[in-house]
Amino acid sequence: MYAPLFSKLDHLLVETRNFWQFMPFAETPAAWEADHPALYQWLMALTDDEVAYYLSDSTALSEALRTWIPQADALTALTDVPALAHIERETPRGLDTGIPGRKWSQLQAFNGVLPALSLPWLEWCAGKGFLGRVLHATHQTPVVSLEWQQALCESGDEAAKKLGLDMTFVQGDAFSPDSEQYIQPQQHAVALHACGDLHVSLLQRVAAKQGQAVSISPCCYHLIRDKAYQPLSQGAKQSALQLSKHDLRLPLQETVTAGNRVRNLRFIEVSFRLGFDSLQRAVRAQDTYMPVPNVQKALLNDGFEAFCLWAAEQKGLTLPAGIDFAHWQQQGEMRFYWVERLELLRQLFRRPLEMWLVYDRACFMEEAGYQVTVGTFCDKPITPRNLLIHAEIVSPWTPTP
Ligand SMILES: C[S@@+](CC[C@H](N)C(=O)[O-])C[C@H]1O[C@@H](n2cnc3c(N)ncnc32)[C@H](O)[C@@H]1O
Repeated sequence: MYAPLFSKLDHLLVETRNFWQFMPFAETPAAWEADHPALYQWLMALTDDEVAYYLSDSTALSEALRTWIPQADALTALTDVPALAHIERETPRGLDTGIPGRKWSQLQAFNGVLPALSLPWLEWCAGKGFLGRVLHATHQTPVVSLEWQQALCESGDEAAKKLGLDMTFVQGDAFSPDSEQYIQPQQHAVALHACGDLHVSLLQRVAAKQGQAVSISPCCYHLIRDKAYQPLSQGAKQSALQLSKHDLRLPLQETVTAGNRVRNLRFIEVSFRLGFDSLQRAVRAQDTYMPVPNVQKALLNDGFEAFCLWAAEQKGLTLPAGIDFAHWQQQGEMRFYWVERLELLRQLFRRPLEMWLVYDRACFMEEAGYQVTVGTFCDKPITPRNLLIHAEIVSPWTPTP
């Protein structure tokens, strides 16, 4: 059921990859001006207020960009996913003790869209088992919560005992073969915001053991052990797209307009980095980006020249005498302006790429014999990672004699 949707998205993302599959930092305005002159002019003419407006309105962004990217409307339409039907499930008083307000809303929303299958639960990468708490209290079936950090297991166990909940905490590594023992055929496995490979490992193990049901809300797609994305479904394996960790960060880069202080700090750091990059390209006579490690923020107060001397030392680069630092700082500031506009352009592809990754997971489960549902479990202010994949083995219907 999801394979045709995946295939359409895949086709459009492959066709448009020149517009999103790159590192804005490493791109120079000159190359874009040569390759896409009209789009370049439009982006460069945008005021900061217009950038903020398009960041806040993805439909307006898509409409504006369709002149140069005719696939924009189709891509945006393919990100339309239904909100899952929600059942309000009452929780006993005091269950939310120690749970931050926004997390509590996420838990209730997640629990509210799960079918009641009367199965025991497995909570994968459980943290303190907040979700397990809500699941047990509303469904009354036992919960096993697997978590890597011993301290979180202890804290969750203590709370469960106080609240009288049937929860068993297991300290374990989700990637270890040992953890497979916790996956049972008659079970509903869940993972709320388990990062990258962690939720993928759950899907793979549930599919291998033909567990009855699994519901996950994916996040942090870039937290993977391999260098590049390992496709799961047949469609993704055949795709021409190869996704680097940098590409996999795009779905999480929901650029919100920050306050003035944060914006100024970002302007200083990013323009210094870009200014140094332009300088090093000239010094080395090589037009390639050179990444510089994280910097102690205090160093930025010493100014652009001090930053360049530090960065050059980090990279073992000898700077010649007589550098016009003011010129390179200005170059950096110009490139900052450009990078912000390229980031705006990439926003058009943020949700489509996330849906490509989600449908890859959905198709993988369908190929393993599951009936799959994809939808949102809450509104974005509660969490921007609001997609849920539910997969369930639905027994074939047998007529009653
Ligand atoms: C983003 S938190 C989500 C926690 C919880 N599901 C929630 O939504 O509040 C991810 C959790 O995965 C745990 N984790 C990370 N690596 C793990 C591993 N290899 N095996 C088991 N748990 C792991 C972390 O310690 C952390 O508690």
